[in-house]
Amino acid sequence: MTIRVLKTGDMYRIEGPAKVVVRRGQIYATGVVYGEGQSFTVLRARRLVIKALGDSEVELVLGPGALMEKVAPQEEIVDEWERRIADVDPRGVALIIGMMDVGKSTLAAMLGNKALSRGYKVAVIDADVGQNDLGPPTTVSMARLTRYITHLRQLAAEKSIFLQSTSLERVWPRAVEQIAKAVDYARERWGVETIVINTDGWVLDEEAVAFKRKLIERLKPSLIVAIQVERELAPIIEGYGNVVVLPPPPHVRVRTREDRKIHREMGYGRYIFPPVELALSLDKTPLCNLPIFRGVELSDDLRRMLTRAVGAPVLKAFQAGGRVYAVVQSDTWSLRKVGGFQVVCLPNEFEKGLLVGLEDREGFLVGLGVLKKIYYDRRKAVVYTSSDVERRIGEVKCIRLGLVRLDENFNEVERATNLLKVEET
Ligand SMILES: Nc1ncnc2c1ncn2[C@@H]1O[C@H](COP(=O)(O)OP(=O)(O)OP(=O)(O)O)[C@@H](O)[C@H]1O
Ligand SMILES: [Mg+2]
Repeated sequence: MTIRVLKTGDMYRIEGPAKVVVRRGQIYATGVVYGEGQSFTVLRARRLVIKALGDSEVELVLGPGALMEKVAPQEEIVDEWERRIADVDPRGVALIIGMMDVGKSTLAAMLGNKALSRGYKVAVIDADVGQNDLGPPTTVSMARLTRYITHLRQLAAEKSIFLQSTSLERVWPRAVEQIAKAVDYARERWGVETIVINTDGWVLDEEAVAFKRKLIERLKPSLIVAIQVERELAPIIEGYGNVVVLPPPPHVRVRTREDRKIHREMGYGRYIFPPVELALSLDKTPLCNLPIFRGVELSDDLRRMLTRAVGAPVLKAFQAGGRVYAVVQSDTWSLRKVGGFQVVCLPNEFEKGLLVGLEDREGFLVGLGVLKKIYYDRRKAVVYTSSDVERRIGEVKCIRLGLVRLDENFNEVERATNLLKVEET
């Protein structure tokens, strides 16, 4: 432990893991002012900038690899961020947008802290499916803020919704609805006055712009905060009046694609823990987004006819509306017309390793799992999941298939997009 004396206006960059206890004076960090006796932590591998608002003395505990260094105020943006959001009313919905590594999560913590310091009830919704700080990857997760934080990761999700994928490309229309559902939940069930929403860093292509604009139209946020490097967010924010544009912090710790993938893979392992294997009846807990084991099962005669028509053994087939879902002894997915029906051919091992969300009757996530195998004759699915899910299994109403395929060590091996063409949404 060391004692440091900070002069009024001094700024320091701290890289965690570190703990800061204010012994005298006032220290500003992430939107709040910490006074004598108060403390905060900086997480491992995270950076934070603090500022002395008066002559101050802090007790500093630096963990392995941690450091604290003085920064020139003109190099830093915290003052500018502070100034630009000082006058906005913290009540309502604030939507944060920006590319990867521009400080979105940090800003979400800052806005949440500020609202809390003014006495409002606050919820944070993290809709970043790739790098979710509150809950598991592939989800939109939410929590109430009841104490000051320096980083969103200090909050644990109270509710999550499974969004199936680590990127919202091609699945964003459902994401818009689910994020809106999270907002409604926070407002109605938690009675919060402030909702801060963090989003994913997908902003550059046309589809990303369409998604973000649709989200803005659906949520009607009272405030949009755009953290912009150049002019990359212009197509998204164009035409909206309630936008605050902020610069990104300099010297951020940029994470590579590989870093992010490893972080997610650790995330699956962390949430599917301690692991258990469950055999779930597909009659009691059907697949939410694929109607096999629902509808009418085809008779043996019809199944044999279908086998001839598709040219490969059909193991099971179910008719739902104008579609027949056939599990076929084959490696390939296909969609074809047979006698007035649209036949969806699913390869017999299509399910192996798919990330799944076990959902309750309101569509919230009970927990993540990995589908190991579907036993068609026993009408069961074997799922690798957490003991928490096992304990809450009575709440699970259906199993939503995800678009990520994982191996036994939770490594992402494939984006299983074939499902997109045939699933029910
Ligand atoms: N003012 C600052 N100065 C230096 N580094 C900062 C500052 N604010 C945040 N950082 C660091 O920059 C990194 C990126 O910030 P943050 O995680 O908030 O960004 P993000 O946009 O949410 O990124 P991601 O796309 O990974 O979700 C983090 O390591 C954070 O600790
Ligand atoms: Mg983030």
